[in-house]
Amino acid sequence: MAALFIFGVILKRVLSGIQPSGQLHLGNYFGMMKRMIHYQEENDLFSFIVDYHAMTSIHDGKRLRDNTLNAAMDFLALGMDPEKSTFWIQSDVPQVTELTWILSNVSSVALMERGTSYKDKLAKGLKANMGLFSYPILMAADILLFGGEIVPVGKDQKQHIEMTRDIAVRFNQTYGKVFVVPEPDIDNERQLVPGIDGQKMSKSYNNTIPIFGEEKAIRKKVMSIVTDSTRVDEAKNPDCTLFHIYSLFLNEEETLELEERFATPGTGYGDIKKSLFGKIMDHFQSFREKRTYLENHKDSVYETLRNGAEKASTVAEEYLTRARNAAGLNYKI
Ligand code: ADP
Ligand code: TRP
Repeated sequence: MAALFIFGVILKRVLSGIQPSGQLHLGNYFGMMKRMIHYQEENDLFSFIVDYHAMTSIHDGKRLRDNTLNAAMDFLALGMDPEKSTFWIQSDVPQVTELTWILSNVSSVALMERGTSYKDKLAKGLKANMGLFSYPILMAADILLFGGEIVPVGKDQKQHIEMTRDIAVRFNQTYGKVFVVPEPDIDNERQLVPGIDGQKMSKSYNNTIPIFGEEKAIRKKVMSIVTDSTRVDEAKNPDCTLFHIYSLFLNEEETLELEERFATPGTGYGDIKKSLFGKIMDHFQSFREKRTYLENHKDSVYETLRNGAEKASTVAEEYLTRARNAAGLNYKI
């Protein structure tokens, strides 16, 4: 039932939730978004911005609202196509919270207590709220409510998918088969994009190169990528942060050319950084224009999101009704 049948080909339902996590950077794009958006070409892609999940860590209404809308505009600007996929904001389909409650009753406390992200937060001395404790049940509801078959996630989310499978099986055994048991699609090959200081690029390390920031700010970040003290008239070692970031934008042949440029004395790091800056601006130019357009046409963004939520709700209603009926929340029939 989850699969879509088009021209005799069965498309798999690929589903993923994305945290609205602040200003977007090259690490997010090359590590996750590009791959995510690509799924829409060959699959029945369901993806959504998980603002309910973000509530477990953001307790500022304005910040959550801004981050959510910005994340949606980022995805749309980078190529998420609402004609090819179903794209919505999690809280626009609130049925997911009802399913979370239903699933809570077949999810054991012990299962939640094994959650590594929950345990990590406790270990760091953070006081966990119930939202954080039952985060995996909301995530299970996200997946099961839409019949997700394949869930692309990073390694850190593997345990959450295993929990979802556990919960789906437990529900189906208790009440009869309602839910699809999903498979994770873990990207083991994903390389970490380094930040300007050489550590993993992350907004928490303040070492990012943003995609949609002001041109001047992006230039400044690129120019401050760490390099060693090799002089202009010496050959340079390509196993370095500048080379790794630059090669994200290059095909095989161009990467070899860059290697050559590093090996040939006469070019300073400053010149290479300037060409990298040009590459970044060229690569993202059309996306940046689209992002500005969306920023100035928010009504069209709201409409796109409303349509996405409507499409998603239709599927949600179907699964939720079956779950309600199976569990006995149907005294009238
Ligand atoms: P940040 O570390 O900046 O807070 P998030 O944790 O919000 O980023 O990550 C959002 C998505 O982007 C995740 O799927 C994550 O795996 C991916 N991602 C973030 N930083 C990188 C990076 N440096 N290299 C590859 N992928 C990354
Ligand atoms: N927990 C995921 C993360 O932090 C986000 C998420 C929420 C998700 N719901 C989901 C991912 C459903 C896949 C499917 O990245």
